[in-house]
Amino acid sequence: MPQRQSIKMNPQTSTALAHPNIAFIKYWGNRNDSLHLPSNGSISMCLAGLTTRTQVAFDPALTQDSLTLDGEPVQGKGLTRVQAFLDHVRTLAGKNIYAHVESANNFPTGVGIASSASGFAALALAATHALCLQLSEKGLSRLARLGSGSACRSVPSGFVEWQAGDRDSDSFAFSIAPPVHWHLADCIAIIDTTPKTISSAEGMAHAHTSPLQADRLVTAPERLARCRQAILTKDFEAFADVLELDSALMHEVMRTSTPSMVYMQPLTSAILAQVKAWRAQGHAVCATVDAGPNVHVICPAEEQEAIVKKLRVLPGVIAVLSAKPGGGAKLESAYTLHLGIN
Ligand code: DP6
Repeated sequence: MPQRQSIKMNPQTSTALAHPNIAFIKYWGNRNDSLHLPSNGSISMCLAGLTTRTQVAFDPALTQDSLTLDGEPVQGKGLTRVQAFLDHVRTLAGKNIYAHVESANNFPTGVGIASSASGFAALALAATHALCLQLSEKGLSRLARLGSGSACRSVPSGFVEWQAGDRDSDSFAFSIAPPVHWHLADCIAIIDTTPKTISSAEGMAHAHTSPLQADRLVTAPERLARCRQAILTKDFEAFADVLELDSALMHEVMRTSTPSMVYMQPLTSAILAQVKAWRAQGHAVCATVDAGPNVHVICPAEEQEAIVKKLRVLPGVIAVLSAKPGGGAKLESAYTLHLGIN
C-alpha cells in the first residue's frame, strides 16, 4: 500500500448527473461476473427527467470511503460496491485517497428503474473528474460498467448500444442516435415501490441455469439488429414487436432459472395485456419490464398524454412517471453552463 499523504490538501470534489436507461434489448447474464462482461449486446434509451446527482469529495483526511444515498448513510453491500468501484478509480489515478459520496435520485430507488445504472454512470464521471482523470466517453463507459453493467449505457446520449465485446477493453456502450432522433416517451406505470429482494446481479448470476438462456443468447444478435434498424428508421411497429419479444424472453429465462425468479406481479401482467389491447385498438404503444414489477410503456410523444391518462386510472397503478429520450452523463458544471443534460 502506498503511504497516505500527510500534508493537508483541499478535498477534491466533483458533481455529476446521469439518467437511468430503459433496455429495449435486455442484458441478462454475464460471461464474466466481476468485470460485467455481458453474454449478449443490449440497446437502451436514456431517460430525461429522471436523474441521479452524485457528488464525490476525495479528502486526504478521510480514513475510509462513505456513502449517503437520498440523505441516508449507507453501510453493508451498497457501501462495499461503491468502495470496490472507487478502488478502480484510485488505481487508474494512482492515488490512495478516500472519498465521501453523496448521491440522490429524483425517482424511486431499486424498483426496476435502473438506479444503479444512473448511479454508477454519475459516480464514474464525478470520481474521475475529482481526481483529474480525463477519460474518453468510451473509457468512462467501460469504467461505469465495472460498477453496474447497465451503467455503461447511461454514459452516452440518447439511444445507446452496448457491444458485448470479448474483453474489458471492447465492452462499452455508444450512442446510435441522439435524443432528438425519435420523439418517444417512456410512461412508467409504478405499481410497487418496495425495493426488490433479489438484485439484478444476484438474479442474472443464475441465468445460465435456465434451459432457455442458450437459445435466448443465440438469437440475441438478430433481435439487436432488428431493434437498431427499427430505431434508425423510426419503425414503431417493428420496434414494438422486438421490444416485447425480448422482454418476454428475459422474464421466461428468469422464471425457468434455478432458483426461479419472478420479478413481475399479477398486476404487471395485467398492464402488459392492457397495452397489447390498446395496440390492437390502433394506439402506437408497447411495453417492457426490467428486473422489477413496474411497467415501462413506450409510445411516440404524440400518444403520451392519452397513454398516461389511461395508465393512471388502471387499478393498482400508484403513479405514472414520464420520460423522453435523455442525454448522457454530464458534470454539473457543464449542466449549469447550459451545455446540458436533457
Ligand atoms: C433487467 O446492470 O443492474 O435491467 O451489472 O449486476 O449491476 P449489474 O446488473 P444491472 O442489470 C440490468 C438488468 C436489466 C436489463 C437491462 O437493463 O439490460
